[in-house]
Parts: sequence; C-alpha cells; structure tokens
Amino acid sequence: MDEPTRPTLGFIGTGPVATALAQSLAVAGYRIAALHGRDAQRAAALAQSLPQAAVAASRQAVADGADLVILAVPDDAIASVADSIAWRPGQAVVHCNGAATRALLAGAEAAGADVGVFHPLQSLPHPNRTRERLKGCMFRVEASSARLSRWLEDMAHAVGGRPLALDVDPTLYHASAVLASNCLVALLDLASELWAELGVPREEGLRALLPLVRGTIANVEEVGIPAALTGPIARGDVGTVAHHLAALNELAPSVASVYKQLGLRAVELAVAKGTLGPDGARRLRELLAQRERGTGGVR
Ligand SMILES: NC(=O)c1ccc[n+]([C@@H]2O[C@H](COP(=O)([O-])OP(=O)(O)OC[C@H]3O[C@@H](n4cnc5c(N)ncnc54)[C@H](OP(=O)(O)O)[C@@H]3O)[C@@H](O)[C@H]2O)c1
Repeated sequence: MDEPTRPTLGFIGTGPVATALAQSLAVAGYRIAALHGRDAQRAAALAQSLPQAAVAASRQAVADGADLVILAVPDDAIASVADSIAWRPGQAVVHCNGAATRALLAGAEAAGADVGVFHPLQSLPHPNRTRERLKGCMFRVEASSARLSRWLEDMAHAVGGRPLALDVDPTLYHASAVLASNCLVALLDLASELWAELGVPREEGLRALLPLVRGTIANVEEVGIPAALTGPIARGDVGTVAHHLAALNELAPSVASVYKQLGLRAVELAVAKGTLGPDGARRLRELLAQRERGTGGVR
C-alpha cells in the first residue's frame, strides 16, 4: 500500500501552539481529523475554526483516527500524556518542546510508533492571530523515520516556514530562543520601568520605545551584527556612558547590572565594527566592569 503523502492529523491540547498549527495546516490543505482537550469549550471553539475537525471524546480517539498526532501540551505533561495512549505500529506522534528530543516519546516508539519533534521557533503567547506568526519561522524537526522526517519537513514548508534538523542536543538552541525572545521581553520591561522615574507611565514609555526596537531589528536584518550597533558605546562616548551608570546606580541598581553586562558585549561589537579604538574600549571596559555603587573616575 502506498504511504499517504500527507498524513491525516490529530491534535491533543488546545492552547496557542495547537491553534497556530491546526489552523495553518488546515489552510494549507491538511486534514485535521480530530482534536482533544480537557476543556471541552476550548476544544469546541478550536474545532469550529477548522474546516473538518471534530472534537474527539478522548485522547485515544484522536490517536485512533490520525496518521500523525501532535501533542501540543505543556512540556512537563508530554511524557505522561503520550504514555496514556495505546499507540499502534505505523502511526506517528510528535511533541512541540524545543528543548527536548524525541526521547520523551520513548514509550510510543517502543509500541511501534514513529516519534519526533515539531517545534515552531516562534513566540505564541495566546491563541489569537497565531497563524500569521508561523510564516517565515524556523521549525526544529526531529524524526525516528525517514517517512516522518519528510512529513514534518513538508508541514513546515506548507505553513510558510523552514525546517531545521539538528543532530545535536537541542538545549542550547532553546536557550538561544529564550535569550532572543523571553529575555527581550524582560529587557523591554526594564527599559520601560525607567520611564516611571521620569514621571511618565511605563506603558507610555514602552509605546515610545517600540519604534526604536522595530528600527533596531530592521537594522539587524538589513546590515547584520556588528554593523547595526549605534549609540554611545559604538561611538566611544565614554562620558555619556559614565553619566548613565551614575544615574542607574543611584536610581535603578538592578537595571545598572544588566546595562553593564550587555554594555561589555557592546564594547566588543563596537571594536569589531571598527568604530571604537583601543583606548576607548579599555576605558569603557573598566567603567562597565565596576561592581561597586558609583561610577568611579573615567580615565
Ligand atoms: N507558546 C509558545 O510560544 C511555544 C512556542 C514553541 C513551542 N511551544 C511548545 O508547544 C507546546 C505547547 O505550548 P502551549 O504554549 O500551547 O502550551 P499551553 O498553552 O501551556 O498548554 C497547551 C494545552 O495543553 C493542555 N494542558 C495543559 N496542562 C495539561 C496537562 N497537565 N495535561 C494535559 N494537557 C494539558 C491545555 O488544554 P486543555 O486544558 O484543553 O486540555 C492547554 O490549552 C509546549 O511543549 C511548548 O514548549 C510553545
């Protein structure tokens, strides 16, 4: 019997990742046979947004009706959810955890299923407008068989993304994603907090900063790193940096430590860009490496 070129899909979980994948894959022409979530209302709402999908009465019913089951549940629930299902040889199951390998699905593999990972390298905080977010994004794919590998690569392309097969432990890949996305959110929170010191509500500060952030990202896309670096460190304006540190040490010491840490990295980028000479770099390194309160002298 010929292998189906496109698997019939089933989803377990009804959160932002299940929503993004199910809606994008349905638009791309994949058949979503069934989905299941513990919250019946959320499952019904997701099924209604898809052309053919039905809400299944149980996880097992999803697995029974699908060639490929996508487990879009929290990381800590993946193994127990997978182990609660009786898998059959020939079917396939993937999880969406970027930091874990397919070994999380060892029980399903032992039962004869193909197992893998399908991780969208995207931030999806809620189920709204998630579909647009998948276009152009990278999908880490991992598979125990060539057939599943092909299915996952086709799915990534079908939703406008790009598949990436990593043959190494994915922990650093995921740590990199956390730095670039989650830590960026934390950084913007810190930056907007400073506006409260200016007497401007932090929400307004954030709104003011967003065009700057978008411009910076566009610069990184257009000219790359280190060319995209601007500002006092890139220019070697040591006095301006000293003033920043004096004010931050006084008014926001926790922000000062982040500023110093990232500032030291910016010094290396400025040197690589060629806009910061050895003397300016030495003075900035000394300034930014200071631990105690106060800026100390600038030599
Ligand atoms: N969100 C992102 O930005 C993102 C990006 C890339 C990859 N991922 C990965 O994608 C997977 C799902 O992420 P998500 O953000 O969609 O997760 P989530 O919103 O935290 O949970 C997804 C769904 O799982 C079900 N669920 C929750 N706890 C469960 C449990 N203990 N047992 C069984 N089901 C449970 C819930 O649906 P019901 O209550 O209806 O059952 C929930 O809607 C995770 O592996 C995550 O690492 C997330």
